Amino acid sequence: MTQQYRSRKEIYRKKPKKKNWLFFLPIIVLFIVGSGYVINSLLSDLNPEHKDAYAHTPLKLSSERKQAKRSLLKELADKQWQESKNYSTDEQTFFVDNLKHEDSLGLLFSHFPKDNAPDIVTGKQVSENYSKSLTRVYYNFSSYIWNEKKKSYDQTESNSGEASFIRSDTKKMPTTTDFFPSNEELMRCHFLIQQEILNRSKDGNTIIDEVLNLAPFKTGDLVVNKVNDVGIEVTLSQPIGDVSMVMLPWAEFSHYLNSSFVSKQYFPEHKNKQVALTFDDGPRPETTEKLLKILKEEDVPATFFVLGSQAEAYPNVLKEIIEDGHTIGNHSYDHKNLTQLTPDAIKTQMHSTDKTVYKATGLLPKYIRPPYGAMKESIAKTLDQPLIHWNVDTEDWKKGSSEKIVKTVNDQLEDGSVILLHDIHENSVDAVRPIIQSLKKQGYEFTTVDTIFKGPKSHTQYFGGSREINEF
Ligand code: NI
Repeated sequence: MTQQYRSRKEIYRKKPKKKNWLFFLPIIVLFIVGSGYVINSLLSDLNPEHKDAYAHTPLKLSSERKQAKRSLLKELADKQWQESKNYSTDEQTFFVDNLKHEDSLGLLFSHFPKDNAPDIVTGKQVSENYSKSLTRVYYNFSSYIWNEKKKSYDQTESNSGEASFIRSDTKKMPTTTDFFPSNEELMRCHFLIQQEILNRSKDGNTIIDEVLNLAPFKTGDLVVNKVNDVGIEVTLSQPIGDVSMVMLPWAEFSHYLNSSFVSKQYFPEHKNKQVALTFDDGPRPETTEKLLKILKEEDVPATFFVLGSQAEAYPNVLKEIIEDGHTIGNHSYDHKNLTQLTPDAIKTQMHSTDKTVYKATGLLPKYIRPPYGAMKESIAKTLDQPLIHWNVDTEDWKKGSSEKIVKTVNDQLEDGSVILLHDIHENSVDAVRPIIQSLKKQGYEFTTVDTIFKGPKSHTQYFGGSREINEF
């Protein structure tokens, strides 16, 4: 006791202005109560439906426990007082005494036995820079649980688990326009939001038509609900079927958001010599299955631009494509030249294929490859997914030898190339392993269309290599 008192005095002596330390007591108490309140309100919506489910401290304590608690509180207050000298704005200590079952903070400790909750919880709010404009905040706690056998408190370290994110400048939750400065940015990733809506639904098949016909959202249609390590959770102003809230994961949306809010980890350094393989007009079980086996053995990802008519006939092959980690794109329903169709016919071509792929795999096609590469601006602006063409045309459909296909690839190859092949021809599939091995030998890495184009956007045409991107 005297020791503690002395140490306070010592701290005190070092300060230039002399004030009685008792003067600070009300401030400390206010701080403790205030920060407890702040933490409680911050955590109040953690899990409200479980309010009665977690443990709480008994109201009447034994005299031993009361005494032990009193001295522990004193010790902690003392420690806090000492640490307070070193407070930075990034670290704020809080302190909760007498955890009650209506305390939202108590929800964090639902794993404690119901009749033996911590009497005291103390801890720190830890802040760290997440991105240029966002700060990541989480809590580290010590909780003190009474041990009836030992007649003393056991200390347990925990943390809040889920971190929350705030704007570094305003210390407030970021808004939709922080992430998407205008409606334009939302439109460019509309196809990804459609997928997230379907992911959230209990049965996406019941809302698939509504989702496919959704007009792009306006920034006012989405309200940021929370931001965490996974992504941005937004509430929809108009629910779609059973979906009123959608998570936009960082991993999927990083390239479509205001980059100052996105962590650097989502923008890896560009690696030289990357190529992407793409296969059109399938699936055709006889050849596609054989191709999947080769890709698996060579550990190479690919994108399959499927026809709706083929997809309808072979949904299990689609499933396999996705299970193997490849991507599916939409190549229309039955290979029509879209520039010769009416807007309604184009919509039918695309949506029927989207639906078939979704039904088989739970995923919408991520891109569109128009048959024959035929496209024009007026059509591009009505399509949801980005348009992915190619810059290396193997002309494998001419049924040339596998050697000839490999040579064509090597002749046309450059960094960032998208290679066009067809998984419906034997000679094409036979050429795949030699292509992969030849390119690997030259130091090329096989990657996805997503990586090559750093998050391709809607109403935009991509070709690969040094060919220009064409934004409408
Ligand atoms: Ni085709």
